[in-house]
This record gives sequence, C-alpha cells and structure tokens, in this order.
Amino acid sequence: MEHRTISANRNPDYPVLAQQLTALLAGERDAVTNAAQFSAFIFQSLSDINWAGFYLLRDERLVLGPFQGKVACVHIPLGRGVCGRSAASQLPLIVDDVHAFADHIVCDSASNSEIVLPVMVNGALYGVFDIDSPVLARFQQSDQDGLMHLLDCFIAATDLNPC
Ligand code: SME
Repeated sequence: MEHRTISANRNPDYPVLAQQLTALLAGERDAVTNAAQFSAFIFQSLSDINWAGFYLLRDERLVLGPFQGKVACVHIPLGRGVCGRSAASQLPLIVDDVHAFADHIVCDSASNSEIVLPVMVNGALYGVFDIDSPVLARFQQSDQDGLMHLLDCFIAATDLNPC
C-alpha cells in the first residue's frame, strides 16, 4: 500500500473559494445542477484528494448523489461506515487513517483518509458530503471549518427539499 506524503502547499484559501463558489452557483437553484457543480468545484480546488461527492438521505439510508471520482458504493445504511456514522450523529467526522476505522466502507483502495460533513437543511439531515484522500491525515480542523462554510454557501444558493 502506498502512503504518499503531504504536498507542501495544500491549504486552500477558503474565503476566496467561498467567493468563487457563490459566483459559480449564482443564477441556478436546481439541486442536481448545484450539487454536481459543488462536487466538481471541491474536486478541482483541493489538492491530494481522489473522491468528492454527496450521499443523500433517502428512505432512512444514504444513496449516492452527484460526485467526482471513481464509481462508488450506492447505498450506505445510517450508522455504517464513515458516511453513515456522520449522518447518524449529524456531526462532521475526520478519519486520519481509514484502515484503522473498523467500519470503514472501501470504495477505492487508494483512499487513506477521509472527511465527512453533514448537510443540514432547516435543521433536518439532507445527506452528507464525503471527501477521500490518498494521503494519511490529509484533513485538518481548518478544512472542516472551511468546507462547512462552503457547504453553507451551497445550501443558501440551492433549493433543497428533504425527501
Ligand atoms: N468510505 C466511505 C464510503 C464512501 S466512499 O469513500 C466514496 C464510508 O466508509 O462511509
């Protein structure tokens, strides 16, 4: 298994990304359109990641939504895996080494660390946003804070109707 080292300059300027994202999403409020754009925006804006996308709450489980990266598992029960754990607790989750996370669901063996952020709309769980990295301990508290703000921008710019 390859464990890559962290790139020298991998800290994005989240306030600038928030401005760019808001401009990108202006003019269209469709959920699929904006979720697809959000995934692509994150995928091209962060270094050292190999997957970024949504799992959406449908019928008391998570279902794969718009994403960038390799094909992924379609259904995740609430409470299972990193995504299901974040969804069940409605809290962000950073996993420095997914191989040490007993219930991790492997979609791409290249992934070594992961961050999952709950997507809350009017106090209700809409889904989660998941990012995988081939780098161990890729995600820091500053990433969690910055990404939560970007998700807030996405939510404010989009008509999201919980199912
Ligand atoms: N690793 C995730 C599954 C989703 S993939 O990473 C895209 C998990 O354990 O929930």
